[in-house]
Parts: sequence; C-alpha cells; structure tokens
Amino acid sequence: MKVEALPAIKGNHNLANYEEAYASFDWKEVEENFSWSKTGKINAAYEAIDRHADGAKKNKVALYYRDANRDEKYTFEEMKELSNKAANVLKQHTDLQKGDRVFVFMPRSPELYFVILGAIKLGAIVGPLFEAFMESAVKDRLEDSEAKVIVTTKELLPRVPIDELPALKHVVVVGEDVKEEGKIIDFFAHFENASKDLEIEWVDRRDGLLLHYTSGSTGKPKGVLHVHNAMIQHYQTAKWVLDLKEEDIYWCTADPGWVTGTVYGIFGPWLLGVTNVIVGGRFSPDYWYETIEKYGVTVWYSAPTAFRMLMSAGDELVKKYNLSSLRHILSVGEPLNPEVIRWGMKVFNKRIHDTWWMTETGGHLICNYPCMDIRPGSMGKPIPGVKAAIIDDHGNELPPNRMGNLAIKKGWPSMMQAIWNNPEKYESYFIGDWYVSGDSAYMDEDGYFWFQGRVDDVIMTSGERVGPFEVESKLVEHPAVAEAGVIGKPDPVRGEIIKAFVALRSGYEASEDLKEDIRQFVKKGLAAHAAPREIEFCEKLPKTRSGKIMRRVLKAWELNLPTGDLSTLED
Ligand code: WT7
Repeated sequence: MKVEALPAIKGNHNLANYEEAYASFDWKEVEENFSWSKTGKINAAYEAIDRHADGAKKNKVALYYRDANRDEKYTFEEMKELSNKAANVLKQHTDLQKGDRVFVFMPRSPELYFVILGAIKLGAIVGPLFEAFMESAVKDRLEDSEAKVIVTTKELLPRVPIDELPALKHVVVVGEDVKEEGKIIDFFAHFENASKDLEIEWVDRRDGLLLHYTSGSTGKPKGVLHVHNAMIQHYQTAKWVLDLKEEDIYWCTADPGWVTGTVYGIFGPWLLGVTNVIVGGRFSPDYWYETIEKYGVTVWYSAPTAFRMLMSAGDELVKKYNLSSLRHILSVGEPLNPEVIRWGMKVFNKRIHDTWWMTETGGHLICNYPCMDIRPGSMGKPIPGVKAAIIDDHGNELPPNRMGNLAIKKGWPSMMQAIWNNPEKYESYFIGDWYVSGDSAYMDEDGYFWFQGRVDDVIMTSGERVGPFEVESKLVEHPAVAEAGVIGKPDPVRGEIIKAFVALRSGYEASEDLKEDIRQFVKKGLAAHAAPREIEFCEKLPKTRSGKIMRRVLKAWELNLPTGDLSTLED
C-alpha cells in the first residue's frame, strides 16, 4: 500500500538538516556537554537533576505530577533535595553499595522518582518493575539479579516473596503505618528527617545504571544492563528526536517499568533540563486530553495502542479540550498504522512521528524527524551516528526492498552492555559487527525502514513485550492444563492479543468457566497483561519430534494460512 508522504515541518528544529548531520556527526561532540569530560567520573542522576539545580534552572519546574489523588510540582532544586533524602534513607537503613541491584516495584508517584534518582546517586543499579507483576514475575527478576534491596508499597508488598530470596536484605516500604520488622523498613518514617545533603557516588562510564528485564521467545525474562554512558544517547536523541527545547512541557506516557519510561520518562527530558509531566493511574481518554490542556503539553510521547484507544473514544471528545499547545507528537512500541497518522492529522493537525528502538538498544535508533518527510507506515531513518541495515542470516547486507533482519552496527552509546549473568545470551544477539534486532524489515531505495514483523515468537500486546514461553510455563502450572502453546493474534486496537491453545488433562471438561479460571490463574500468577485474552481448547498441540511446541503452526491455524514445512512435526 502506498500512502502519500507528509512533508517536513518548517521551523527551528534541533535537527535542522538530517542528511548534513548524518554525514558529519560524531558522538564525541556530545560528551563535552557533561562534567565527566573534565573529571573522568560521572553520575547520570547528577547530570539529570543536580547540574540544573546548582545552576540557572534551580527554580524551574522539573516535574508536574498528577493522579486521581495528587496534583504536585517540584523544581529542580526540590528534586535534588528530595532525591538526596531518598538516597540518605537507603544509605542509612540498608547497606546498599555501588553496583548493588535495587528494585523499585511501585506505581507512579513522585516518591518513585525520588527513589530511582536517589539510588542512582549512590551508584546502585536500578531495576524497575511494572506494578502489575505478580509474585512469580517479581521473584524471577530479583532472583536472577540477586537484588539486595527492593522499594515497594504496602499494597504490593504481599507479592514480594521475601523469604524465598536469600540475596534480598532489605525491603523498603512506602506507605502509611508500616510496621518495621525483619527486613522491612518504613520509608516515610526516615524520609522526613533525612538530610538534604549527599555526597554523590561518582562512577565510571561503564558502571551499571539500569537493569531492565525483558522477554524473548525462549526462557525466562533476561536482564538487560545499561550503563551510565548511555546518557550520551539519551541526551542527544531527546534533542533530535523529541526535539526538546528550553520552554517545552514534555509528557511521556510510559511507566518506568518499561524502558521508555526510564530513558524518555526520566533521562531524556531531565538531561536537557526540560519540564517533565508524569501522570499516574490508568489510561483514560478524558484524563489524558485534560492533562495536555492543564499543563499546556507541547511534546507528547506515547504508543500506537494508546493512540488507537483515543481514536476509538471519538473525535468529539478531542474537541472538548484545548490541545493547541501541542507542537510535536511521537510514538513507540509497535507499528504505527498509517490510519492512526491520518487520524492525528485530522484531530490534532499534527504528524505523529514513529520511533523504533528496543529495551536492548537503550535509546532511539530509527526515527522520523520534524525536518524530514514522513512516509506513513515507515519507522523512518537511522539517527545520525548510527548505521542500520538489512542483513541476511550470515551478516551480509541486502540491497533495498529486500526483506531481512533489521541490524545495527555495534557501538552506539546506549547499547546494552550485558545480559545479566548470561554472556552466551548476550553474544547471541550479534553477527560479526552487527547487532541483530529480531525484527524483520526492509529499507526502501531512499533509506526509509519498514517494519515487517518479529523473526521470533515474541508477542507485542498493547506495546508490551511478552514472551510466549513465560505464559506457557504459567499455564501448565494450572491443574487442568496438560500443555499450552501461546501466540500473538492480530488485533485492531492492541496490535496483538495473547491467544493460548490449551490441551486439558484427562478428567477436565472444557467450559467457559474453566477458560476464565485459567485466565485468572495467569493474571494472578504472572501479570494482567500476560494473561491470554483468548483460550482455545484442543486435543493435542503441534510439536516437533524433540517436543518443542510449534507456535508457527498454531499461528497458521489461527490465521488460516499455509502451515509451511511440517517435516519436523511429531505426527
Ligand atoms: C520491540 C522491542 C523501546 C520501547 C518500546 C518497546 C517493537 C518497537 C516499534 C516501531 C514497529 C516496534 C519491535 C521491537 N517495536 N518500536 N516503531 N515499529 N515495531 O521495547 O519491549 O524492548 O520491544 O518492539 O518488535 O523489537 P521492547
């Protein structure tokens, strides 16, 4: 399908001329913005907050926060002091040391951000957990990373299996009337009187900053390690891609449990000293439009799923709000449908700019820029300083318009530096000098990249990455389930939904009640977003002779497509 290109936007963009920048840019230029180019030592939290608090932006609003119960704002100076206080609580009541893993497991609130920044100021590696995770998801991640500290809320505490995690020494609980016993520490009891002053732990560029767990098609979720050096890319892409300027009011809708919510919900805007809006609570079209109007949001970063949900809430709703402050809109997480872009033009009179990257890449790689024509349906072009290509399975570059593996030349600043405890897994991402994304795509003759799908069985549902193996493993823990195979089924709003094919143990009768029971079992055991929306009972699952479930065959059944080569099928 050919869709008409949307012309570049005239104006004063940070990235003024893409071709020129692509030809001449060197990452070295960015390093000079940070103090470590002089001292050799850095701390990303210092660069994001304290640097501004100690300078001219002291009284500038760093954070606007709102949810159903709170409506607050904090200046850079206040952010500095409050994150110092959070750091001091951790320092005095836990033995958190540089390089230790501290997990944050709580819904969005200002305290969550104080704690993340505070822990980073101590040189700890922060592992953010999405609040919807249930006990076994929490356990897997803390166990694999041997986390020493977790910061959570009273409500989520029951999902932390403290006694099953020998490495976990301290559990800091944010909430009212917390009883301190065993490993439990009451955050607020110590926060109020904690000192506003802190000696920051200066670290090396290669020291750990964030540990984001993400799913693949096999095995348990893996810990993707990002280091302080990544902030070079966070800074520069916030400039070029988010096009952030001094006076912007920026809103990224992602939760820090996902990489978008840390990289572009914390570092991108704050490294540039830009006012950041953070909204807690669930998605609601009214509340979202109201947020844009209330703060006069100028730059808005969200996801295709959210745009599609807004789209289905109707155009009349948009008209109830004054959204004229919006200047630049961006999207990430899954393919951005041309239809959504057209809707954006209609209701906001703005282009929605697609951006492509992954947890592992730590920052934007292929994007659409205000200064460039958009070809709706395309992810855009690689950012200056990054080489992208389509390669075959042996690492050979393919010519334009040929489908293959989307790959990136190693060495961009925010590239993951390890898979926690799993060097083989890390190595498996690379063919020679190429990082292989797991996405298939092609590049047109003008250098635009077009996403085609995942090479593996990873499911993207509502912009969240779910590994089929994790869901299957949980399903077979249900007493009625003998075997399970899980696929992503195309869905107009969610991109994909999770569909499970389930073979029952003998003695169990297929019924709608049983389906619901199985769904709830995954929801309670793993996470709501990982629970299959559709379950289909079948006699038997297609398997290879070695016993591996052939999801490819399940998918072909589901979509009424040819099943392809079945020579490895069991019978
Ligand atoms: C996978 C990575 C980085 C934050 C988002 C999710 C898919 C991401 C796009 C896009 C088509 C996209 C890919 C990728 N994806 N952005 N613009 N168009 N697909 O990060 O959870 O690590 O998932 O999301 O399949 O491999 P993630």
